[in-house]
Amino acid sequence: MSAFRWAAVIVIHTLCLLATGASAAEKAAAVEPPATSLETQLPASKMQIGVFYYPEQWPQAQWSRDLGNIAKLGFSFTHYGEFAWTYLEPDEGRFDFAWLDTAIELAHKAGLKVILCSPSAAVPSWMGDRYPEVYRVTESGQRQAHGTRAELSLSNPRYRAFVFRIVKALGERYGRDPRVWGWQLDNEPGSFVDYSPSAQQAFRTWLQQRYKTIDALNETWAGSFWSTRYRRFSEVRLPNPTLAGEDKMSPHALLDLARFRADTTAQFLDAQAELLRQHSSGQWITTNYTNVTTATDPRRSGKLDFATFTLYPVAGANVLGGISYALGNPTRLMEALAYYSSLGPRFGLMELQPGQVNWASVNPQPAAGAVRMWMWHAYAGGTALLSTYRYRHPLRGAEMYHEGIVGTDGVTLSRTGKEFTDTLREIGAIAPQVHSDALPAVLAARRTGLLWSHDVYWDLEIQPQTTQWQTWPHRNLYTQAVKTTGAPLRFVRESDRFDDYPFLVAPAYQMVSPQLVQKWRDYVERGGHLILTPRSGHKDVRGHFPEARFGGAIAELIGADIEQFDMLPEGVSRQVRRGEQVHAWHRWADVLSARDGTEVLALYADHDYAGKAAAVTRRLGRGSVSYIGVWTDDGALERSLVRQVYQRAGVAIEDLPLGTYIEWRNGLYVAVNYNPAPTQLTLPAQAKILLGNNPLAPGQVLAWTATAPH
Ligand code: GAL
Repeated sequence: MSAFRWAAVIVIHTLCLLATGASAAEKAAAVEPPATSLETQLPASKMQIGVFYYPEQWPQAQWSRDLGNIAKLGFSFTHYGEFAWTYLEPDEGRFDFAWLDTAIELAHKAGLKVILCSPSAAVPSWMGDRYPEVYRVTESGQRQAHGTRAELSLSNPRYRAFVFRIVKALGERYGRDPRVWGWQLDNEPGSFVDYSPSAQQAFRTWLQQRYKTIDALNETWAGSFWSTRYRRFSEVRLPNPTLAGEDKMSPHALLDLARFRADTTAQFLDAQAELLRQHSSGQWITTNYTNVTTATDPRRSGKLDFATFTLYPVAGANVLGGISYALGNPTRLMEALAYYSSLGPRFGLMELQPGQVNWASVNPQPAAGAVRMWMWHAYAGGTALLSTYRYRHPLRGAEMYHEGIVGTDGVTLSRTGKEFTDTLREIGAIAPQVHSDALPAVLAARRTGLLWSHDVYWDLEIQPQTTQWQTWPHRNLYTQAVKTTGAPLRFVRESDRFDDYPFLVAPAYQMVSPQLVQKWRDYVERGGHLILTPRSGHKDVRGHFPEARFGGAIAELIGADIEQFDMLPEGVSRQVRRGEQVHAWHRWADVLSARDGTEVLALYADHDYAGKAAAVTRRLGRGSVSYIGVWTDDGALERSLVRQVYQRAGVAIEDLPLGTYIEWRNGLYVAVNYNPAPTQLTLPAQAKILLGNNPLAPGQVLAWTATAPH
């Protein structure tokens, strides 16, 4: 999120007062946000908790009872309308807001704030019947049709016109309604690729703006290869790997397709936000991204007030073995907190799994305690708004096997619904007992940035070179390695100040500009500790190899040359040695030769490159730079090398097992445990435990303060 409108207004207001020689009282008052400020509506230091309700899915006679029960359970807001377009505009141009008026009024009477949504993710049947072009076209040329959601063509002018018309109508009716707290645009925006004529046209326009001349595009896309050169933009086709195979197409064209998709989604959201803003005041605007965004890049949207994400941790994966499948994927929430907190001063978790879901390949029950643990984890990671999807268990329809806060009778709490609402009260009772704005020095010394770019991620996925390469697990390995130290972790982008983080990890940061390499060097020379991992610095920002020695862009910085790289077929593994320790690898190995003054940390132990370096480090100025060139099977070597960087820097660290995390918020330390084994935590002598037990059992929460509660 690049634009923080509300913050900017306050800053400008403050500067004006200072410039006009305002009195001390006026200056002090200027620091306080105005009454309708975002900070007043959604304080970054608190967590407000709500639940989704779908009035259109239940008899109107039950709305009042349901909303009253939601409020009694302790929720402070509800969420309406992201899939209700057919009820809002039952026929083209004929709007019906009467039912929504009633639902909003009943929520208000119950004491609940309302989040309203733009309904763009699911359109009424009349629209597709009259204007089939509103639907996207798949990779195989099939036009999608009515009957589900999120199959729309975001580039289609007709669809966009319908969206903007209903957004305007909603804004005009509710944009100044104090019962409406804020807005969610769309639902999990932008997941699908679109090969419609509208997308084709929009892609050409996007390319023309980016490249200006067709020669520049041909140069970047490697038009000299296989006669893929174009004479004019009108000839350029949306690259479609299903026709040819991904490795048979220009990787640079595919990278631009990924950028175009993400820009299209961001622009679609921004246009909705701008329109809504013209018709609203004192209400915030967000969207609900998925926790892991593969095709959508939340950083590309500049017009939302903050971002939120959705999260369903128990959906069949069993990353840490044992009972961990029922505690949830251990990296999802941890990384989402590190990522979404980096987008602005506040963020939300718009959908948290309330219990068993319906859509995974296997849908197990979350373990007792899991929902509570996620809620505490979300709180401790800084979430300002937490909502669960959904209040009632549906009795029919595609998600009828999806649990809610209450069960199929509409009134009895589900097992996990009870856990959710008990925890809501538990957090409300414990969190306010402590308050401190100052990050403890021991944590500040460990603060770690993770350099992340969707462009780099897409490029790696487009040319993985081995089916064993998966960028997401590679990233997970390094975020987990950092979290074993107990460090606060934040994602950063190239334009951020690296100096805010004593440690900076750039996993597989393949595409680099000379400016980035210089920024890394300056950061290290000033005392930062930089960790690069396999495939870093191999390409330029277009995704080309520079005409220089391979890896030459970073050789000087890391004090080593990348001689070659290797990857192994299924079932084959080789060894890397660190002292007496031997580790197996098969996914990726950058084979390094260290220059003078560079320390070799690990060596390949077999094959043609036995004795060559697999990981190196060097001091540079006041800091250090390490290049870990191998991806081992169990990641133990990498974790130990990452930990060593902190230790050598003289920074005290924890020794947490995988899946045990410690977060700190407002003076409260919270530890959670996704690991199937208990964790014995080492608490400081002055720690006062406010919740839970040490050792920390799987799925449990331990909260303590190192200062006296007030
Ligand atoms: C989310 C989606 C919701 C609902 C939910 C079910 O991904 O945003 O609308 O379908 O999954 O778990």
